[in-house]
Amino acid sequence: MRKKILVVTKKPFAPEAVNRIEEIVEKNGYIFLIMENYRGQDNFENAIYNVDALIVRSDKVTKEILQSAKNLKIVVRAGAGYDNIDLKAATEKNIVVMNTPGQNSNAVAELAFGMMLFKSRGFFNGKAGSELKNKKIGIHAYGNVGRCIAKMAKGFSMEVYAFDPFLEKKDIEKDGVKVLNSAEELYKTCQYISLNIPSNKNTKKSINIDLLKSMPENAVLVNTARKEVICEKSLLQIFHDRKDFSYISDLAPDCKDEIIENYENRYFFTPKKMGAQTAEANINAGIASANQIVNFFKKGDITFKVN
Ligand code: 3PG
Repeated sequence: MRKKILVVTKKPFAPEAVNRIEEIVEKNGYIFLIMENYRGQDNFENAIYNVDALIVRSDKVTKEILQSAKNLKIVVRAGAGYDNIDLKAATEKNIVVMNTPGQNSNAVAELAFGMMLFKSRGFFNGKAGSELKNKKIGIHAYGNVGRCIAKMAKGFSMEVYAFDPFLEKKDIEKDGVKVLNSAEELYKTCQYISLNIPSNKNTKKSINIDLLKSMPENAVLVNTARKEVICEKSLLQIFHDRKDFSYISDLAPDCKDEIIENYENRYFFTPKKMGAQTAEANINAGIASANQIVNFFKKGDITFKVN
């Protein structure tokens, strides 16, 4: 029986990415299936019933979804963050979960800079803005996106700092980045903070008032990570307490209405999560996902397993 590989994306890949995934799947003798722009988890449950492998983006892969899959062996999240997948439920069913680290990080970093430039120029409102040059940027978590941000920040002649509790200091310093020993030090030092931490039980709501209020004058918090890592009560408080604080984010916080109503010119939110929305990122992550599935079925390769 030919194995079935299903792509499920509420936010579709660029057409070329889909073509490339299909090509890899069919060349290897598998059946390619796709469901884009779907509505409701019940459609997802029906589609997954007899497939062997699944490729998703931020689509929620819940326990119920996994339980309705009778042949599923592998789920690949075409992207970095896998907080949308119930890893425990997958492990219980012996389903391997992988991500595709690094494949969309350049796109995310470019979005961070796009938003930073937009903000520093006052959203091109005709008044004098400011430059990124010589400003301090603090990279909160130095993974693939953090690394790209550092490189771009240097191109803009920014002073680059980072904090990452999981990396050796020397591995960050070799990029010419100054390493600080805590999140507290990072926030206290840098006017711009780029959030690149994953969303998990340790990081959810971890960006709190103490960190935010310690930021220097004209503080800008740049979030291309996840909205869940922000303590929104603290966010509202800092917006209220400090007129010089701005928040620019790939995806609006739940408290967006209050911010929009009260704090004009101090925020920018993408209408849809846009970090990975480039053809290049879609193609890279799509190809990596398809290849990882092929290598898993043909060679038992579990290199990017996260569960
Ligand atoms: C990721 O975790 O890779 C990014 O947040 C991109 O997510 P997306 O594929 O849903 O756009």
